[in-house]
Amino acid sequence: MPLKQTDNQAFSYQIIQWYRENPRDLPWRNTSDPYQIWLSEIILQQTRVAQGMPYYYAFTEAYPTVRDLALAPEQEVLRLWQGLGYYSRARNLHFCAKYIWNELGGNFPSTYAELVKLKGVGSYTASAISSFAFGEAKAVVDGNVFRVLARYFGISTDIASSSAKKEFEALANQLIPQENPGEFNQAMMDFGSRQCVPKNPDCSICPLNSGCFANSQNLVQSLPVKINKVKVKERHLNYMVIRCKKDWVWKKRGSGDIWEGLHDFPLEENVESGLLGNVSKKTIPKKYRHILSHQKLEVRFSEIEIPEENRNSLSEWCENEGYLLVSESEIDYLAKPKLIVNFLRDQGF
Ligand code: ADE
Repeated sequence: MPLKQTDNQAFSYQIIQWYRENPRDLPWRNTSDPYQIWLSEIILQQTRVAQGMPYYYAFTEAYPTVRDLALAPEQEVLRLWQGLGYYSRARNLHFCAKYIWNELGGNFPSTYAELVKLKGVGSYTASAISSFAFGEAKAVVDGNVFRVLARYFGISTDIASSSAKKEFEALANQLIPQENPGEFNQAMMDFGSRQCVPKNPDCSICPLNSGCFANSQNLVQSLPVKINKVKVKERHLNYMVIRCKKDWVWKKRGSGDIWEGLHDFPLEENVESGLLGNVSKKTIPKKYRHILSHQKLEVRFSEIEIPEENRNSLSEWCENEGYLLVSESEIDYLAKPKLIVNFLRDQGF
């Protein structure tokens, strides 16, 4: 359907034109199933399109409907999520599926107002699902949208400030057309991530350059304004990889933890020396780095081999301290943080 251009629709018109000329065939764009769109948006909260694609295929294949996800064991869901990080998203996904299946009779919420009440669904995700699946004119606003609007309209509000979201949401909701709002949202996402990129965008080929404030005022590098940067804390961790023949000591992380439900190893500070008898410790030279939202981890691993004759005291110690003894052949089935997966891969697993 041809688009009509009027003055105050120029921006929306050009964004959608750009999108139609630069289409990306993404699997979640070929469905109007709110469940599958929801899956894609939760995955894409966590990673980029290219990295998210295999996870989207894995989830939709393992759980084609909300019922399948609701009835899945949590460990299996976490295992499929493995490598994406921020596991509370996977737990929320599972929680919502069970809620929709058990409390809503399996009917996926169909309006922005209902969607935004779901655990783990914020205004961005609710806007994406309601516009893509139900044609509701609710604009998505994230870092990409901040950047495009700040540059095009010359908005110098600090995007890290508490009022920024409201201001940009109000503008985006004015710009979104009532007809095909989902297409506008997809266009904003793609335009922000492929044309109006954070560093050195090629404005010479941008079809919106003549109306763009930042381009005309030479402010592309200065907009958007972002003042408050999150402080990242550095932490050093020493993991103890304790083995007795083919059994390994694992820790299942508890509630309130960013790695809740995932498995790693005891930390050195929690293992009293002498507790396991007079055993030697071999520290692996390689340092592993891992970046979480507010922490930079530098991690080392030490290996400890417990002799067979101390197996009983090892088992007792594990039981008292809340550790698990897991046979080597079962390790692949444990849901683990990416850091641990990388370590195991280096060990030949
Ligand atoms: N990022 C978040 N949601 C997206 C979508 N639906 N398509 C492409 N990138 C996205």
